[in-house]
Amino acid sequence: MKNQIEQLKRAKNAVILAHYYAPAEVQEIADYVGDSFYLAKLAKQSDANIIVFCGVAFMGESAKILNPDKKVLMPNHAADCPMAHMVADGIIEEMRSRYDDLAVVCYINSAAELKSKSDVCVTSSNAVKIVKSLPNKNIFFIPDKNLGSFIAKQVPEKNIILNEGCCPIHAKITADQLLTEKNNHPGALVLTHPECDKKVIELSDFAGSTSEIIDFAKASACKEFIICTEVGVDYKLVTDNPDKLFYYTNPHPCCADMKLNTPEAVLSVLEKEDKEITVDSGIREGALRPLERMLELGK
Ligand code: 13P
Ligand code: SF4
Repeated sequence: MKNQIEQLKRAKNAVILAHYYAPAEVQEIADYVGDSFYLAKLAKQSDANIIVFCGVAFMGESAKILNPDKKVLMPNHAADCPMAHMVADGIIEEMRSRYDDLAVVCYINSAAELKSKSDVCVTSSNAVKIVKSLPNKNIFFIPDKNLGSFIAKQVPEKNIILNEGCCPIHAKITADQLLTEKNNHPGALVLTHPECDKKVIELSDFAGSTSEIIDFAKASACKEFIICTEVGVDYKLVTDNPDKLFYYTNPHPCCADMKLNTPEAVLSVLEKEDKEITVDSGIREGALRPLERMLELGK
């Protein structure tokens, strides 16, 4: 299957992008693997004719919005991020009418329509930097309340208004589960994704995006880590650090949507060139500006 995928990629000038939560077999065949910000930048720069995006719907949509002339395929259109839709109808408009000086800051984990109503997008690796740089005092942060409260703590000069949304996978990681692991592995450092609950973040040694967690583990002299994020990062962590040990909270956090990106599905889209991502042109126009602003401010 690996050979078939390689041949088709070359023949069709296709590139495979995968998020760190995609299955290990898919990370192994991908041309580029990374966090949401890295993948969005790559999608913008790519000169391939076809982008096969092994992630969830908002990632494929963002690639298409940034690169409308490319064919963006997703191995399984059922792969969607539940949090991407967790913003109540009308609430953005309500916040805009309530505050004069408001910026709507939209986590990239969001549906294209929500992006189109926002002022700027962010990912977990650039959110603090971008929010700090905005001239507005009032920030309505959608959809993730956990990333929002993580930003609020680091940017106290802003009034961050939180929205009731969160990642169901990261939200299931509890402080009690983490304390059990800390008891089992007292010498381990705790590295956590900011989509986790603030009680989990408070018990951690470091909080950052998937690639920041991976970079931290590689650079650290410590040999043991408790990782509070989706277990797909284990492939890169173990590959980069064969001499280090990585533990996860129980049950292991697993995003079923990301796991729909199987090698079989990748081969099938490359063969058939079906499952193309399309974005309504009005929504695309509206969502392009906040995404481009993120690429500019996140530099
Ligand atoms: P990052 O890759 O930006 O850390 O995001 C994590 C995530 O949940 C993607 O869905
Ligand atoms: Fe969405 Fe959470 Fe899955 Fe990331 S891990 S894609 S935020 S459901």
